[in-house]
Amino acid sequence: MDHFLYRNGQLYAEDVPLADIAAAVGTPFYCYSAATFTRHYQLFVDALSGMDHLVCYAMKANSNLAILKLLGDQGAGMDVVSGGEYRRARAAGVPGDKIVFSGVGKTADEMRLALTGGIRQFNVESEPEMEALNAVALSLNMVAPIAVRVNPDIDANTHEKIATGRKEDKFGIPISRAREVYAHAATLPGLKIIGIDVHIGSQLVDLAPFEAAYRKLGELTAVLRADGHDITRLDLGGGLGIPYERSNADPPLPSDYGAMVQRVLGDLGCEIEIEPGRLIAGNSGVLVSDVIYVKQGEDRDFLIIDAAMNDLIRPAMYGAYHDIVPLVEPAPGTEKHMYDVVGPVCESGDTFAKRRAMPPLKAGDLVAFRSAGAYGAVMASEYNSRPLIPEVLVSGDQFAVIRARPTFDEMLNRDTIPEWL
Ligand code: LLP
Repeated sequence: MDHFLYRNGQLYAEDVPLADIAAAVGTPFYCYSAATFTRHYQLFVDALSGMDHLVCYAMKANSNLAILKLLGDQGAGMDVVSGGEYRRARAAGVPGDKIVFSGVGKTADEMRLALTGGIRQFNVESEPEMEALNAVALSLNMVAPIAVRVNPDIDANTHEKIATGRKEDKFGIPISRAREVYAHAATLPGLKIIGIDVHIGSQLVDLAPFEAAYRKLGELTAVLRADGHDITRLDLGGGLGIPYERSNADPPLPSDYGAMVQRVLGDLGCEIEIEPGRLIAGNSGVLVSDVIYVKQGEDRDFLIIDAAMNDLIRPAMYGAYHDIVPLVEPAPGTEKHMYDVVGPVCESGDTFAKRRAMPPLKAGDLVAFRSAGAYGAVMASEYNSRPLIPEVLVSGDQFAVIRARPTFDEMLNRDTIPEWL
């Protein structure tokens, strides 16, 4: 459930009509609902309440400082994948001992930043990385807490580009080599083994692949303990999917997921850590855009809107579906019309939807893309010299711009023409 609902014929974000925000900040813009973010975060907390746990929000989904502060104040930890994300988490007030550092390519500088600034654990993904982290920790006279990310070779049944747990994927160490790698880690004085990590992919709409991976993790925990390692924490990654297409079957709920985790891993006495991103952020945000033209093509009508693939790349990049709804609620029984919904960018890939049945729309009408709170603003670019679009946060009847639209001068002033040109 989210807080973007029609009231008196108008689409609201909590208690604010989205059209009012459009009038104040201009289109296109992202709008987030604080109540939806906290609700989704709390669903995970409740789902794991029977176990010692920490929910570490995967901030790659939406890393605006206001969002991090909102979730951090609720007690959320953070899963970061770069020095930039680490800095954002700290700037939002998240303590280092609630920050997990994931990712296959951490640099020595990033390791140093996190070790000196405070870190809960590094999720290490290879032996060369293990050696590098050991060296950095020793140079600082510190010991780095680690979990090794294992690759369980499980197909998550999701989009090719976001599956991460098969042996052909670049992530983790093969689970078959885990004993060897943990034995090696135990010889490195700059590292302290505390757990095991796994993340098999994103937008999973079925619990079965999770369960298969977690069973393997449970077995590995027993084996590693028998080898003498102190395994006290299991990081289960993120990946729970959301209903992008509301007419489709609903993916499992966090409560179903939590019950499965309890059943499969609850007896090990480990602290459970999870890294959800999409389920917390996805349906907590919309992208609002204005219809510029309705263009009649030879065999179809194009709805040309002022948002484009540079603002929301998911349809172009993954063929992703997003619901697109008008800000003014269509009267009951309104007959639908077929549109191709496209942006102004100069390539055919700038298409949000093909043959989409929508209520009839005209230039000047406003539409909202649902489920745009995750992997929306964070993946935006200035392609075609389109400035990044603003982000707005609503809480109850108040709203604030949490990232302003840059001016064209700001955009141009970032470039430098060398003197010698
Ligand atoms: N943990 C790790 C190590 C990850 O790599 C990811 C996502 C997550 C947690 C969070 O997964 P989530 O709960 O959000 O599914 N840009 C793509 C999604 C990329 C996901 C990358 N890793 C999209 O728009 O669908």
